[in-house]
Amino acid sequence: MYAITGITRKVGGALARTLLAAGQPVRAVVRDGGKAKAWAEQGCEVALAEMEDASALAAAFKDTDGAFVLPPSEFDPAPGFPEARAVITAVTTAVEEARPRRIVCLSTIGAQATETNLLTQRTLMEQALSELTPPVTFLRPAWFMENFAWDVASARDHGIIASFLQPLDKPVPMVATADIGRIAARLIHEDRLGHNVVELEAPRRITPNQAADTFARVLGRPVHAEAVPRETWESLFKSQGMRNPTPRIRMLDGFNEGWIEFEHGQAGSTKGDVALETVLRGLIEGMA
Ligand SMILES: NC(=O)c1ccc[n+]([C@@H]2O[C@H](COP(=O)([O-])OP(=O)(O)OC[C@H]3O[C@@H](n4cnc5c(N)ncnc54)[C@H](OP(=O)(O)O)[C@@H]3O)[C@@H](O)[C@H]2O)c1
Repeated sequence: MYAITGITRKVGGALARTLLAAGQPVRAVVRDGGKAKAWAEQGCEVALAEMEDASALAAAFKDTDGAFVLPPSEFDPAPGFPEARAVITAVTTAVEEARPRRIVCLSTIGAQATETNLLTQRTLMEQALSELTPPVTFLRPAWFMENFAWDVASARDHGIIASFLQPLDKPVPMVATADIGRIAARLIHEDRLGHNVVELEAPRRITPNQAADTFARVLGRPVHAEAVPRETWESLFKSQGMRNPTPRIRMLDGFNEGWIEFEHGQAGSTKGDVALETVLRGLIEGMA
């Protein structure tokens, strides 16, 4: 049995679909019972758990060959990352109690960075899970290609993608969530000892200008990338409702300055095979 958190969204969903297609038993770990029905109809067991609820997570992880831990995104964390710390406490308590045979934890590119930024939330999770007994693999994916969902309307209606990734000709490690799910499905079966890191990106890195060209090809209209000036980010993010934009800004700085990178570089990363064009077609069709 494989317990999958985050199953209702991109990565957890891709992982679960891969396991189900291979005839593997899946326990869908959801916080909203209403979202469980679709998975139950596909033959999944269902466990209800918030990621901050240690005893519900322990029940969800009990008697499993593998547990997939997807820490929820928090783009606007309070100082000191209390939201991520609450999840870390619950997950580690649950793992100690339930002892799944192995764990795959979705982490991120740059989890090893020493500068405090948004991704520090995953650094803390890696440190905490590394201290536990069950073997754990940290799957560190690149920037999700699906993040371009935010740019579909602007590309389609105005021919512009506004880019925080800069300069516009700098190649950025990216990956499709379908590839992450597929690799996670492989890792959750593998008997590895101790703590492991698997870093994952597409075969070629992609510049914002190339992403705009790909939008143009798929949309059949001119599209270009525009850099959002760095000095406007703080006021822009605050105008969008963020209270504490510094961690997000430092994460973007890290990509742009190069200190958010894979620990073992491009040469050491596992490569996916889904192309950006495939992902953009799916995003655009999904919003049509
Ligand atoms: N975006 C990137 O470029 C990038 C790059 C590297 C790593 N990552 C990592 O990828 C992860 C996000 O993956 P994703 O995009 O597939 O997921 P997502 O769209 O952020 O969805 C989060 C999932 O977790 C569930 N969830 C959220 N809060 C929860 C809570 N308190 N208790 C229980 N379940 C909760 C959600 O369930 P509901 O359906 O009920 O909301 C959903 O299934 C994050 O850990 C992020 O750090 C992202």
